[in-house]
Amino acid sequence: MRIGVMGTGAMAAALGGAWARAGHEVFVGGRDGAAAAALAGRIGAAGHGSPAAAAAYGEVALLAVPAGEAPALAREHAAALAGRTVVDCTNPLEPGPGGVMLSIAPGRSVAALIGAAAPGAHVVKAFNLAHSSVWERPAGAFGAVPPAVPFCADDAGAAGRVVELITGMGWSPMPAGGLDRAAYVEATAAFAIGVWWAGGSPRLAFPEALA
Ligand SMILES: NC(=O)c1ccc[n+]([C@@H]2O[C@H](COP(=O)([O-])OP(=O)(O)OC[C@H]3O[C@@H](n4cnc5c(N)ncnc54)[C@H](OP(=O)(O)O)[C@@H]3O)[C@@H](O)[C@H]2O)c1
Repeated sequence: MRIGVMGTGAMAAALGGAWARAGHEVFVGGRDGAAAAALAGRIGAAGHGSPAAAAAYGEVALLAVPAGEAPALAREHAAALAGRTVVDCTNPLEPGPGGVMLSIAPGRSVAALIGAAAPGAHVVKAFNLAHSSVWERPAGAFGAVPPAVPFCADDAGAAGRVVELITGMGWSPMPAGGLDRAAYVEATAAFAIGVWWAGGSPRLAFPEALA
């Protein structure tokens, strides 16, 4: 698959690197050309250039930028993103007095804002629940049961592409409904990161129920 990565930070490196290792053609697009070139070299990307070039590169585009920037970036590149699968890994978070808070109104999601900003794009919310370092672990590092990547999508073709990306990394896809449920996945990140920063282990909160 051809994947244009928009951003050159931690998530661009982690996901772009994992997809390059899985055999996909990854293109790194950054507003800092030197950073894009350096990251492309580091992860073995097929090419590098501007965010505009990344948006126009492949079947899939990854928005790996701050949540507050993502809708405007999608709007700027809406024409190029039309018809493509746009993966949104952002988390709209901000510090609050009691811990991590959502920086978006309850019930709203960055994924939906991206969809509204680029109406022809097929937005998929995914990859926002684990720290960037986790995606850099090799396939098989988690034992017999691969961890899951919840994703929300409205378009079946886009969902299928993201399933292929997830399984190619050695993870397990977890369909979590349409884009109208992306707000729940984003709020789950606020919960989990809040627990994690407080020294807890959020995954321990979800044991299997008895059948
Ligand atoms: N880090 C994690 O563990 C993690 C885990 C899950 C989800 N996320 C989410 O993933 C997203 C990216 O996080 P990150 O950790 O990769 O952030 P990061 O390391 O700070 O990198 C952000 C990237 O976005 C670029 N950028 C910012 N505004 C831009 C704009 N208007 N146009 C083009 N590029 C722009 C930055 O470019 P410059 O360098 O030029 O500023 C930088 O390359 C965030 O929404 C975050 O909440 C992060």
